[in-house]
Amino acid sequence: MKTVRISIERFVMMLAIVGLFVAAITRENAPSLEKSQMVLADSVDAETGLALDPNFAIIKAQCTGCHSPKLILQHRFTRDEWLSKIRWMQRNHKLWDLGETEKTVLDYLAKHYAPNQAAYSRREPLRNIKWYKLEQ
Ligand code: HEC
Repeated sequence: MKTVRISIERFVMMLAIVGLFVAAITRENAPSLEKSQMVLADSVDAETGLALDPNFAIIKAQCTGCHSPKLILQHRFTRDEWLSKIRWMQRNHKLWDLGETEKTVLDYLAKHYAPNQAAYSRREPLRNIKWYKLEQ
């Protein structure tokens, strides 16, 4: 039987190439929030996943300092409910007074993350369910 000899450098090089190849493939197939979000909004910011509109920068500044923007993406509230979430964070989690930007923040949230809009994490509750009797 013939043995093939290769230098250690060549072997390491081959390992590196195979490793890069595998990394490239798995990366391509990994599900990403950004990609799924694309389907839900006309345009979203690639970094945060938040909907892009002229007020996006204000929301990014006021709402992504303490926690992931996913906390916003995962929720759907009416304007009043968003306001009470903000008050709740102000009472319990040291969220600052949003001042003049509060109205803008609420407009943005009510526009993009209202209850009737598709959420990333949860579907809408089922409606008009037709129950049927299980026959034994
Ligand atoms: C000063 C820090 C801070 C800032 C700034 C902040 N939050 Fe929060 N927020 C929190 C904390 C702390 C929680 C609780 C996190 C947890 O439960 O893990 C939270 C929770 C939330 C939740 C989940 C609420 C729930 O019922 O579970 C939402 C939605 C949310 N924040 C939205 C926002 C929005 C919108 C803004 C911008 C106006 C914002 N946050 C800015 C601290 C902050």
